[in-house]
Amino acid sequence: MTGLFIAFEGGDASGKTTQARRTAELLGAVFTREPGGTVVGESLRTLLLGSETSLAFRTEALLMAASRAQLVEELIRPSLEAAKHVVSDRFIASSLVYQGYASGLPVDDVRDLSIFATDGLLPDLTILIDVPVKLSMSRRTTEPDRFESETIEFHERVRSGYLTLAKHALEPWEVVDGSGSPEQVSQLVDDAISKRLGLLLGDARS
Ligand code: TYD
Repeated sequence: MTGLFIAFEGGDASGKTTQARRTAELLGAVFTREPGGTVVGESLRTLLLGSETSLAFRTEALLMAASRAQLVEELIRPSLEAAKHVVSDRFIASSLVYQGYASGLPVDDVRDLSIFATDGLLPDLTILIDVPVKLSMSRRTTEPDRFESETIEFHERVRSGYLTLAKHALEPWEVVDGSGSPEQVSQLVDDAISKRLGLLLGDARS
C-alpha cells in the first residue's frame, strides 16, 4: 500500500498555501512545497525567487526541475512508499503554467523536463484554487517576490494556463473556486478530496 499524493496549485496569493497546510494537517500527511522542501531545493528557491536575480527562462525551468527532482527523490517517493500521504504546495503544473504558458517556453518541453525530474511520478489529485487575478492581487500582504512583481498580463496567463490544464488533463484535477472566505474554500477542498479520493475530511474538521 502506498500513500496518496495531492498537489495544490494556483496563482500567487490564491490562498492555496493555507488550504494545502490545512489539508495536510487533517490527513496527517507529510507537507512540502516547491520550489524548496529540501536543503538543495531551499537554496534553489532563494536563487529563483530573489528579486535581484535575472534568470533566463530556460535556466529558470531547469532549476525548478532540479528542485523537484531532489524533492521527489528525498521526500515524496520515500514517504509514499512508507504509506504516508503527501501534500505539496505546487508541483509540475506550476512549471507548465509559469515557465510554459506565462513565460512562453514550449509547454510540452517543460512537461518532458518535469517528468524526467520526477521519474514519472504524478500527483493522484491536483487541486486548483482558482481566483480572479484582481482579487488575488488585492489579498497580497507581503513584499512581492520576483514572480509576484510580474505584470497583470503575466498573472492572467498563469490563471488561464491553469484552467486550460484542468480542462484537458488526463489525470485527476479539481477546480475549486477560491474567491470565498477561507472556511468556504476549505469546504470545497474537502468535498473535492472526498469525491476524487474517497478520503473523508469532514469528521476531522474542527
Ligand atoms: P509560492 O511559494 O507558492 O508563492 P506564493 O505562496 O506567493 O504563491 O511559489 C513561489 C513562486 O514560484 C510562485 O510565484 C510560482 C513560482 N514557480 C514557478 O514559476 N515554477 C514552478 O515550477 C514552481 C514550483 C513555482
